[in-house]
Amino acid sequence: MPQIHFHHKDGTVKIIDAQPGLSIMEVAVKNKIVGIEGACGGSLACATCHVYVHPDWWDKVLPGYSKEMSSRPPDPRSARSEDKLRPGSSDIEAPAFAGATDLKISDDENDMLDLAFDLRKNSRLSCQIIVRDDLDGLILALPGSKPGW
Ligand code: FES
Repeated sequence: MPQIHFHHKDGTVKIIDAQPGLSIMEVAVKNKIVGIEGACGGSLACATCHVYVHPDWWDKVLPGYSKEMSSRPPDPRSARSEDKLRPGSSDIEAPAFAGATDLKISDDENDMLDLAFDLRKNSRLSCQIIVRDDLDGLILALPGSKPGW
């Protein structure tokens, strides 16, 4: 069973066995991960399932967003160059989600992320990430945490 690592605000890390097919939000709520509420049940209406994705997992969980993009501005010629800055983030624009995978960020998720607390460039809504075997070892952090990545 894939294991998901949750970094908490107090610096502790909880590793949870996650059942494939469930969303990360469902796994977190079931295992009482503090900081993930999942108030809307995964219908993209609350942003209470907000998490940060470790850079080692951006290729899979933030498709189209590479590590290199964290240190330089996105290409102004990209299709998403008109995207607004995320509130609370640095001056990095929202990533260009060019990757076509089942883990890509939809426009609806991106819109809801704008309402999330302490939004960062590596933010996602965990209700939109479905657990798969190849996500074994996925490292996430909870809002308010400062994991150093
Ligand atoms: Fe409400 Fe994810 S649980 S947006």
